Amino acid sequence: MLFGKTIVVTGVASGIGARTAELAGQLGADVIGIDVREPSQGIASFIKGDISNAAGVADIVRQLPRRVDALANVAGLSGSTGIAATLAVNFYGLRALSQVVAPHLREGGAIVNVASIAGYGWRANLERAKTLTAIEGFPDVAAVAAEHGLKNEEGYPLSKELLLLWTMQAAHQPLFRDRGIRVNAISPGPVETPILKQFRAVLGDERVDSDITRVGRAGTSADIAPAILFLCSDGARWVSGANLPVDGGLEASINADVLGF
Ligand SMILES: NC(=O)c1ccc[n+]([C@@H]2O[C@H](COP(=O)([O-])OP(=O)(O)OC[C@H]3O[C@@H](n4cnc5c(N)ncnc54)[C@H](O)[C@@H]3O)[C@@H](O)[C@H]2O)c1
Repeated sequence: MLFGKTIVVTGVASGIGARTAELAGQLGADVIGIDVREPSQGIASFIKGDISNAAGVADIVRQLPRRVDALANVAGLSGSTGIAATLAVNFYGLRALSQVVAPHLREGGAIVNVASIAGYGWRANLERAKTLTAIEGFPDVAAVAAEHGLKNEEGYPLSKELLLLWTMQAAHQPLFRDRGIRVNAISPGPVETPILKQFRAVLGDERVDSDITRVGRAGTSADIAPAILFLCSDGARWVSGANLPVDGGLEASINADVLGF
């Protein structure tokens, strides 16, 4: 389903992005990898780029071919570097990249956003999430954080809340919908990658270990990549605006507890 397709993957220097790029190549896709760091593994086509600011996004897009089939937005920060950087990469930069890549996507192409189970609080924080996603373009994120009194420790979950909300919204926006471009998200639970160590520092071992214990083990990048690529493929042609949990059953287990069954 990916043979001959051109797939752009961000965050290819590590973890989930690296495995997604590798698997896409094994499945016959031409992969264009993007990261702020040089990947250690070979990637046929690599663009060194930074999605944390508007100039970085513009620079990346200048280097893309005229036509691509899918964009996998995998790059992300843990929150340990502060709320402004986290919101800039995980949400505003991701969204800006998606918007400028849209004209390069073929009709019926796809965007897949790597969100997180950490973003499921969007319903409880709906008004805040609506206000922050309604800010257009690439704002001065530090100023946005100051204006809305956002705290550093909220950065990671908030960035994923915004991303989940925007995924649903974008699926219906003319920029994407009018050309049949599907926009979906996946939400991993804890996955053994370098970022997990940072989550332990930010969230505490207890929280991370309790999630891992619920489902028996942490995920691996190899558990997540196939789900991203399914949503990139034509096999998911009737899936849009969805969030697919890829968490070994973690969300279902928490829901069962919360709902009492
Ligand atoms: N690992 C987990 O437990 C877990 C759980 C849920 C969601 N996620 C999400 O999965 C995605 C991938 O995370 P991972 O686990 O592979 O982490 P990782 O730290 O291994 O990889 C993240 C990659 O993003 C790149 N990146 C960071 N800032 C960038 C920027 N400004 N421009 C371009 N690239 C940048 C990094 O250089 C790195 O290669 C992230 O969005 C993360 O939030 C991870």
